[in-house]
Amino acid sequence: MGIKKAIDKLIKKISDRFTGNGLMQEENTAQGERYVTPGIGEVIRQAGADGCVLLENDGVLPLENEVRTAVFGRCQFDWFYVGYGSGGNVNAPYKINLDEALADAQKDGYLQIDEDVRSFYLKWRAIPKNQPSDGWWGHWPMSYPEATLPAEIIKKAAEKNDVAVVVIGRAAGEDRENELAKGSYYLTDDERALLDEVTSSFKKTVVVIDAGNVIDMAWTKDYKGKISALVYAWQGGMESGNAVADVLTGKVNPSAKLTDTIALHYDDYPSSAHFGGLEYNEYREDIYVGYRYFETFAKDKVLYPFGYGLSYTCFDIAAREFKKTKDGICVKAEVKNIGKRAGREVIQLYASAPQGKLGKPARVLVAFAKTKLLNAGESQTIELSCKDYGYSSYDDSGVTGNIYSYVLEKGNYSFYLGNSVRTDLKAGEYSLDKDKVLQTLTPVCKVQNPFPRLKAQPDGDNIKAVYEQTPCADYDLKKRITDNLPAPVPRREYNGENFKDVIDGKLSLDDFVAVLNDEELQALTRGYGCMNAPQGVSGNAGTYGGIIKSLTDKGVMPVITTDGPAGIRIGRYNALLPCGSALASTWDTALIKNLYEKVAMEMEHYSTDVLLGAGMNIHRNPLCGRNFEYYSEDPLLSGKFACAFTDGIQSNGKASCPKHFACNNQEVKRNVNDSRVSERALREIYLKGFEICVKESKPVNIMTSYNKINGVWCHYNYDTVAIVLRKEWGYDGTVITDWWMRKSVSPEFPAIKNNSYRIRSQVDVLMPGTLNYSLSGYKKYKDLIKSIDKEGCITLGEMQLCAKNTLKTLIRLKKRDN
Ligand code: BGC
Repeated sequence: MGIKKAIDKLIKKISDRFTGNGLMQEENTAQGERYVTPGIGEVIRQAGADGCVLLENDGVLPLENEVRTAVFGRCQFDWFYVGYGSGGNVNAPYKINLDEALADAQKDGYLQIDEDVRSFYLKWRAIPKNQPSDGWWGHWPMSYPEATLPAEIIKKAAEKNDVAVVVIGRAAGEDRENELAKGSYYLTDDERALLDEVTSSFKKTVVVIDAGNVIDMAWTKDYKGKISALVYAWQGGMESGNAVADVLTGKVNPSAKLTDTIALHYDDYPSSAHFGGLEYNEYREDIYVGYRYFETFAKDKVLYPFGYGLSYTCFDIAAREFKKTKDGICVKAEVKNIGKRAGREVIQLYASAPQGKLGKPARVLVAFAKTKLLNAGESQTIELSCKDYGYSSYDDSGVTGNIYSYVLEKGNYSFYLGNSVRTDLKAGEYSLDKDKVLQTLTPVCKVQNPFPRLKAQPDGDNIKAVYEQTPCADYDLKKRITDNLPAPVPRREYNGENFKDVIDGKLSLDDFVAVLNDEELQALTRGYGCMNAPQGVSGNAGTYGGIIKSLTDKGVMPVITTDGPAGIRIGRYNALLPCGSALASTWDTALIKNLYEKVAMEMEHYSTDVLLGAGMNIHRNPLCGRNFEYYSEDPLLSGKFACAFTDGIQSNGKASCPKHFACNNQEVKRNVNDSRVSERALREIYLKGFEICVKESKPVNIMTSYNKINGVWCHYNYDTVAIVLRKEWGYDGTVITDWWMRKSVSPEFPAIKNNSYRIRSQVDVLMPGTLNYSLSGYKKYKDLIKSIDKEGCITLGEMQLCAKNTLKTLIRLKKRDN
C-alpha cells in the first residue's frame, strides 16, 4: 500500500472512530476579537425568554418581592446552551448561566438566593472530578452527573426559604441521538432523589427543564400537587440564564407555546416502534405525526398538547368574523387581556376536514399569529387567513378518483380558533357538496417496499385507526429523466468574458456558460475539497464556485459556507443563538427574522456568504438527536420559521440554505438509512415545510440530506430535486449535498455513478468537494469530465444546467472581485 493510501486509511479510521459514520467533522476553537452584532444579545435574550414554555403554575411564579429561593441542580451553573454538532458548536463570546442571571435579579430585588445551597454547589463543582466533561464529536455528554446534597442541607433550606427551583439539563446532537435511558430521555436516579427530597421538604417547587428536545415528563405525575410550576426552557443560547431568569421573575411574561406534543410515555408516540432502525424505518404512522395522531386517535395519551403554554395573565379569544373567499378562508379574532399583567398571546387556527375516503387528522394547524404586548384590559383584532391548499389532502392511492392530486373532499369544513390544539371555539365552517381538485401532480418517490400505514376511518361518532397497504406508484423514472434532459448551450470560444458583467446585467448567464470548458464546468459542481477551506474565514464549512484559478480569472469568486443554524460556526467569536425548538416556541416569526438579520451582519463582518440553515426537518420522534436544531412536529410551523430565518439572512444580502431535504429524521446511521414513506406523508408532512419556505422566501441554497427516501439517496434523488423542488415549486437556486456523499450507481443508467448520478438528479454541488473524507477524492472528478456526452452518460446540457444553478448564487450574492 502506498504511503498516501495508508494515510487516507488512517484518517478514515480515526474519523470513523470519532463519528461512528465515516465522516470527519471539525470542531473549531476560536481566536480573535469577541465580536457580535450590536444589539444581538438583547434579541437573543428576548427570543430565549419568549421561547420558555410555562407548563404549570399554581401562582408561585413569578418570583418577586424578594421571595426567598433556593436553587438546586448543577445545571444552574453547567447550563446546556445549545445542542451539539454543526448546529451547535458556535464559539460564543460569553455565556450567561442561570446562577449568574439570578444573582442579577437578586440585585434588582426580585428574589433572595439561598447562599448555603449555592455554596454547596460551588464547592462541589470545584472538586476536579466533578467538573463537567465536554466529550468529543458524537460522544458528547447527554447530561452531567448530579450532585448529591445531604438531606440536612435541603431540610434547612426549606426552613429558610419560600421556594425551591430545581434545574434539570439534557443535550443531544448531530451523530448523538437521545437514548431511551436514564440521563437522556429519562431522569437519573440522582435527579429523582433530588426531586423527592426537595418536593417533600419545600411547600413550593419550581422545575426548569434545560433541553433541546422533549424528554420524558411522565415523572411529573408522581409529584402531583408538589410541583408548583414547570418551565420548559429549552436551550437559549448565550443569553440562556438571563432569558430564563426574566421569565421566572416576571420581567417577561411567558408567551411561548409547545411546538410538539408532550405525550405521557415514549411508546405513545406513533413512530416509536419504527424509529432508530439501522437500515430503514417504515413511516407507518403516515401523516399522523405529533398532534395529528394524538388529537385523532389518542387524546388521553397527551400530557401537554401541541400549541399549549401558560402566561401570568389570561386572555379571552373571540371569533369575530369568518369568510370563505374564492380560494381560502379568513378569520378575524379578537384577543383581550382579561388578567392583571401585560402579556402576549398566540392565536392558532386549526382546520377540521371531513374524513371522506382518504381519512384526515382531527385538526391541522392552518394559521397562527402572536399579539403585541397587551396591557391588562387591552384588546387586539387579528386577521388569520389560509388558502384551501393549506388544508387539502394528497390522494396517492386514487381512492377519491383523483390520483396524485391535492383534493378537498366533499363535506363539512370547520375551523377552530384558540391558544392550543385543544380549543373548541368554532370560528366558522362551510360545506362542499362535491370533491374539489386543487392540483394534479406527478407521482414521485415510488415506494419500493410496501408496508402498512395508518389511516383514520369513521366509526359511528368516533374515528378508528386502521391500517392499509401503502400504495406503490408505477412509473418509468428512466423515461421521465430522458424526456427532460436539458438542452446544451452551444459552446463558443472564450473571448475575455467576465462574470462581473453577468452580475451587472451586461452579459447573459447562458453567454457566460457557453465559454466555460469541461474543467471549469466540473469545478462548478463541487466544493473546494475540505472544510476550513483556505479562501474563507478559519473554521468555515467549505467553499464552492470559484475554486480554481481559471474560474477566478474569469471573475467567478468562491462562495464561503458556514454552519448554521445556531449562529456562525467558525474559528472566531460570534453570537450563539437559542436552539430551533426554543425559537419556534416563540411562535413569533418577526422576532426570529430580526434575529437572523443580525446574524447576517456578523456574516458580513467575517466575509461569509451562506449560513447552512434553517435546520427544518420534522420532529418525527422525540429521540432524534438533532430535534434541538429543528422546529416542530408540524410542517406549517417548520416552514414559517424557515421563512423567518431565510428572510432575515437574505434581507442583508446573504444566503440561507434550508436543510436537510428531506426526511432526515434520525441520527443513527443517518447516511445509510432509508426513510420509507408514502407519497402522501412525504408531500403533506416532510416536504411541506420546504415547500412553504421555497415558495415564500426563495432561499438561495438548499441542502439535500444524507438518508435515502424509498431506497434512493437524497443526493441522487431526481424526484425530490428535479420534479418536486424545481419543476413543481419553481426553485432555480443552488442545491448542495450534505457533507460528502455515498458512492452509488444509477439503477436507471448503469454508466452513470457518483457525481454523474448526482448531476443527473440536478444536485448541483458536492460539498465540501470530495466523495468521502479522503485526500485523493478529487480524482473521482476525472471520471466526470471523461464521461460528458459519452454514450449513456451525462450530457453537456446537464453539466451546464448545474453550473448555471451554481452561478445563480453568485449573482444573488452579487459576489464580485473587489
Ligand atoms: C451536517 C450538516 C452541516 C454539514 C457541514 C453535516 O454533517 O449534517 O447539517 O451543515 O455537516 O458542517
